[in-house]
Order: sequence, then C-alpha cells, then structure tokens
Amino acid sequence: MPDVAPLFEPLVFPCGAVAPNRVWLAPLTNGQSNDDGTLGDDELRWLARRADGGYGVVTTCAAYVGADGKGWRGELGVDDDRDVPGLRRLADEVHARGVRGALCLAQIFHGGVRAPSAQTGAQPWSASTWTEEGAEFEAPRPATEDDLARVIAQFGAAARRCAEAGLDGVELHGAHGYLPSQFLSRVFNQRDDRWGGSLENRARLMREVVRAARAATPARFVVGVRLSPEDFGYARGLDLDETVQVARWLCEDGVDFVHLSLWRWERMTTKRPEEHAVPLFRAALPSNVPIVAAGAIWTPAEAVAVMEKGAAAVALGRAAIVNPDWPRHVREAAARGEPWEPRRPPLSPADYADLAVSPRFVEYLRRFKNMVAVDA
Ligand SMILES: Cc1cc2nc3c(=O)[nH]c(=O)nc-3n(C[C@H](O)[C@H](O)[C@H](O)COP(=O)(O)O)c2cc1C
Repeated sequence: MPDVAPLFEPLVFPCGAVAPNRVWLAPLTNGQSNDDGTLGDDELRWLARRADGGYGVVTTCAAYVGADGKGWRGELGVDDDRDVPGLRRLADEVHARGVRGALCLAQIFHGGVRAPSAQTGAQPWSASTWTEEGAEFEAPRPATEDDLARVIAQFGAAARRCAEAGLDGVELHGAHGYLPSQFLSRVFNQRDDRWGGSLENRARLMREVVRAARAATPARFVVGVRLSPEDFGYARGLDLDETVQVARWLCEDGVDFVHLSLWRWERMTTKRPEEHAVPLFRAALPSNVPIVAAGAIWTPAEAVAVMEKGAAAVALGRAAIVNPDWPRHVREAAARGEPWEPRRPPLSPADYADLAVSPRFVEYLRRFKNMVAVDA
C-alpha cells in the first residue's frame, strides 16, 4: 500500500496562497452553464459535490474570456460583469463545503480557431489563416493588432472578475491547441511579425496574458498556466524543449504553478522516449513553482507515483467524475490502514445523476470512450 501522506500535505504557491492538499479537480468541460455564459445550477452542483469530496483545488471548466472565443454550447463565461454573481456563488459554495481552505480556480480560455461561428456569430480568428483537407474547423482569419490587444485585456478583465467574485485564482488555458497554444504552434502560427517566427515571438501572447492576469489581480491571487508539453489531439506544432523554455519564461512572469496536461501520466515523451516530462520540467523550473500533472491518474498509487516523479500535485479528470469523494475516501482508508480502489466507468446516466453529473454532462461524456454505459 503506498504512503498517501504526501497527497495531503498543504501546497504553498509563490504568491503566498495555500491549498490544503495536493489533489485537484482538473478542468472539465461539461456543458452545464446557461446560454448567456452565467453559471448554471447543474454546474454549481457538480463542482460543489467535488468540493464536498475533499479536493484541495477545484477548477472550473474552460471558461471563455470574450464572446468571440466561446468554443461550445453551455460553456461558462467570464467575459462580462454579469458572470460575477454566479462565480461568487461558486466561490462561496466551495469555501463553505470543501475541506477547510480549499481553493477554487477558474480556467480562463479563448478558443481561437476552435471557437466556431455557430457559437460566436463571427469567423474565428487565430495566429494565421490555416486549413487542411478534411478540417473540422473553419479557416480562421489572422489576428490583427487590435484583436491581440483586446484579447490580452479580456484575459486580464476575466481574472479581475474572478478575484472580485472571491475565487482564489485562475488557470490560463495554454494547452490543447486553443488560442495561446495556437500562437505557440509552429503549424498554426505562420506570422512574420512580433507575434510569430521565433519562439520568443510565438510565446508572446501567452506571456502577455499571464502578465495581464497578474496585473489585474491582488498579490495573493493564484495565476497559473496549463500547458501541453507536446502534440496531442488538437495541440499541434509544439516541441518539448520549446515548451520547457516557455514554462521557464512564464515562471519569470510570475506564474504560481505549471500544470502539465499529459493525457497518460506514465507515458514517456515523444521526442525523447527515455525521458518523462515531469522530471524534465521539474529540473528546468524554479523550485518554488509547483508542477501539477494530469493524465489518467486513477489510483492513489498512481497519484503518489506522479508526485515521486516531481509533481507537487495531481489533477484528476475522469476519476473525479466517477469518484466525487476520491480524496476523502483515500484519506479515510489510509487512516484505517486499508487499501482503496476507485470506481471505474462505464456508468449509466442514473448512476451519474447520483454523482451530481447532469444529463447534459452525460451527453458530453459520450464522446469519451467507455465513460457512459452503451446500452444506457
Ligand atoms: C469530459 C472532459 C472535459 C474536459 N474539459 C477540459 C477543459 O475544459 N479544459 C482542459 O484543460 N482540459 C479538459 N479536459 C482534459 C482533462 O482536464 C484532463 O487533463 C484529461 O481528461 C486527462 O485526465 P484524466 O485521465 O484524469 O481524465 C477534459 C477532459 C474530459 C474527459
């Protein structure tokens, strides 16, 4: 049986904020917000239920910072002051119901080419125009200087709203091929101005966004970033060593954590199969900046193994959907000296309803292999 004590130690961020433990709810899109982007009741229930279960950090789904960055129906918005009361309800619930001192973060997002006109009413924009055979996205128009100034200000304003609402921080969604990751990409970004070309230029948007979020929020507000170390899914044109360098710069810019989206935590890097991303980033970044890792972490033994590689915290996605009480169960079982194994999908919609996962979220989960029982 692994020693799970490291999972339940407090985590101190460079800004001075402290999370009560190292088990995070990963950002999970769930389609449960209202059509105007305000927090939906089902979304609140889903997150509050995970707070009840003992997650030390509860992260929202990707939430759009501007109407032209909205990626899908039912997405949470942080683009307007009308979103603040809903965010405040969320912060209050997590703080009242979670483990003492649990933190609530919003993941702030712009879809870029992945913000379809069906959602936004306008042609998507990105670093460059780009398409490919069989593309399931609309060809974007290249960003103007105005677009870039606006979106940087929008990320700042979104962070400010989150702070006003009493949330504890934001995670900039710099992963998975959305706008900041599109600028970083050598595939999506073909620009030859100060926003493209060299790594310094391709990283400029991400760095500016982090600085804007930092400048718009109080000193103890957590500002972190999520990165895809290498290509996976929509994330394309990324290079492992470039991402390490970008993470270094973001630490200089004052991020409070670097969250690595690995999809499968045990997999070695594609570029260097003898090397794992977590120790690589750990060695490259200042020791006071925690690394969070996510990717098919299900069992306490796996969580501990990721931490032994150098992660300061683990973020659970699918395991948290199916196991709202994961941290509480792990802790209580360890206190009794007993092993604990998580429940595994597929589950029926009725089972999900008991776990505060609404029919809308279940519909979304059908896109993921083996999450919803096929005959249900
Ligand atoms: C239903 C679902 C929704 C997701 N939504 C987001 C999201 O909004 N933002 C994000 O960065 N990652 C998102 N992800 C990725 C997860 O945060 C996580 O990194 C990934 O699922 C791997 O972890 P897991 O195996 O523990 O689920 C989503 C994953 C799933 C399954």
